[in-house]
Amino acid sequence: MEVLKQIDKLVQEAQEEIAVSGSLGKLEELRIKYLGRKSEMTSILKGLGNLPADLRPQVGKRSNKAKTSIEQMLQKRNDELSDEIFNTLREDEFVDITEPGTKYESGHLHPITQMRMELEDIFTSMGFTIATGPEVETDYYNFEALNIPKDHPARDIQDTIWTVDGNPLRTHTSCVQIRTMEKFKPPIRAISIGRVFRYEETDASHEHTFYQVEGLMVDRNISVANLIAVMRTMLKAVFHREVKTRLRPGYFPFVEPGFELDMNCLLCGGKGCQVCKYTGWNEMLGCGMVHPNVLKRSKVDPDEYSGFAFGMGLDRLVMMRYQINDIRLFHSADLRFLEQF
Ligand code: FA5
Repeated sequence: MEVLKQIDKLVQEAQEEIAVSGSLGKLEELRIKYLGRKSEMTSILKGLGNLPADLRPQVGKRSNKAKTSIEQMLQKRNDELSDEIFNTLREDEFVDITEPGTKYESGHLHPITQMRMELEDIFTSMGFTIATGPEVETDYYNFEALNIPKDHPARDIQDTIWTVDGNPLRTHTSCVQIRTMEKFKPPIRAISIGRVFRYEETDASHEHTFYQVEGLMVDRNISVANLIAVMRTMLKAVFHREVKTRLRPGYFPFVEPGFELDMNCLLCGGKGCQVCKYTGWNEMLGCGMVHPNVLKRSKVDPDEYSGFAFGMGLDRLVMMRYQINDIRLFHSADLRFLEQF
């Protein structure tokens, strides 16, 4: 009988096509083709009523069976394809959570910053507070209040860069001494660490932009002995041993008497090299007893109080610690240099 053969042929064709279908999309197309509203199977079922009555049950039964069998084949192939997709995903996106992670390189603090933090710890442990001041200063704080009036020759020693509106980039951190004395009454113990600028030719131990550590102690009966004791304690804490130092007279208009403190060159052990300019000594800081004029200007009575102050080159201190032979390396942005710290 023609219809029954047609049904068997449909099942046969469906089976062949389903077996080779390679995607869930293709499978859906086959479902529509063989079982959809416009499929041959649907039209056979719709035409049942036109068949002779004795054939209807047989054709009806055969087509229902064929429909079920095509549905099962579709389901089976659907399961197979889903498994394949899952297996491929599992291979492609497999993560071994026990594998060690990727190590990302992270940066670290610049050696000058490290030393700055260390000094802040050393001085706070001696009862000093940390003060700050601006890098673009006024003429008053950088010179005038420090006993360096407009026509004073000491201005030439610290030549600087000026903004167009007439303000200097500070040449030293000594300006913070004044700002601190204006804000606080004695007893004062303060340090201030920051960047300073000079219009200067660079060489192995001179930069145009460098760092200073300013220190100020004002109280009753402060003397040079206190200054020396604090300097020695600080250097011992930085170098973890006694270092050879020498104090020689030095002129700064804002101190009286004034000194310069040199440290035995740790790069050459005192024999002489390019950093110590073949003298065996490195100038580390300027210091002295705060000049009475400076105290008076900041409303501190010089008859009642005295104080010491110092200003140290932070870059040079780091150079001594790590035996760095050129100050210009600090701002060179050369990673081969920086990665060593
Ligand atoms: C001053 O700047 C004074 N304000 C220091 C001071 C403070 C004296 C308080 C008295 C009381 P001087 O110009 O010498 O002084 O600089 C101080 C230190 O900064 C030097 O000893 C040196 O270690 C460092 N220094 C000076 N110039 C440079 C430079 N161009 N590059 C790197 N370090 C420098």
